[in-house]
Amino acid sequence: MAKHDVKVFSNLEEMSWAAACAFEDLARLKLIDGKTFYAALSGGLTPRLMYQILAGRALLGRIEWQNVQLFQVDERCVPPDHPDSNYRMIREALLDNADIPPENFHRMHAEEPDLEQVARNYAEELAVALEPQNGLRPRLDIVFLGMGPDGHTASLFPGTEALEEQNAWVRPNLVERLGMRRLTMTLPLLNAAAHVIFLVAGADKAETLRKVLEGPPGGLPAQKIQPVDGSLSWFLDEAAARKLSSVSRGDQ
Ligand code: 6PG
Repeated sequence: MAKHDVKVFSNLEEMSWAAACAFEDLARLKLIDGKTFYAALSGGLTPRLMYQILAGRALLGRIEWQNVQLFQVDERCVPPDHPDSNYRMIREALLDNADIPPENFHRMHAEEPDLEQVARNYAEELAVALEPQNGLRPRLDIVFLGMGPDGHTASLFPGTEALEEQNAWVRPNLVERLGMRRLTMTLPLLNAAAHVIFLVAGADKAETLRKVLEGPPGGLPAQKIQPVDGSLSWFLDEAAARKLSSVSRGDQ
């Protein structure tokens, strides 16, 4: 597994505060130079508390949201107000409660029928916002990822086509096991980021986490997150980290 650091926290709340502070610290470093900070946010349940903290009183006024551009790592093919919508979760936890200009959040319109076109449009939005040098991939400043019990991350599930994508930055992905299509950032884009932080909580992920961090390299999607020229961190709660032998408790 790529060089990475692992931080174990007593519980989801402590882990979420640390993740929110990491966001704030990295943003300040970029914004202090008058630059824009580019972040990609995952869906699922684990990051919701971090988003609420980012929008909360404690960090009020400490993040110049007008200079932060937010992207989605992946999305389910449901309308934006659907209970399964990642956008809806992010909106309710963060966007509705923080002074973020609406144009600074780039929603994945995964409810639209032509997902290939939606993917191309989203890649174009990334290109316009991040202005990558010719031929290079856009370099997101921070990407927050989750991991499923099957080792999937973003919407890159084991055995699915998008996991093998070498060129496109964003693409549709058929997940037969779930009987659904998703829209997802790809490994080439995710691994071009400056910082990647996994947020993983819960005992149901402990065995997979042991395989991902201490098992043979390679097979699981989460193991394929290997930033080319960036940092990789794992923020874990005690329950998720309980089978790891390589980290001692209190690794903060
Ligand atoms: C999604 C996510 C996905 C998520 C993992 C973990 O759309 O579901 O982006 O990759 O991060 O499934 O989900 P939980 O945080 O809910 O365990």
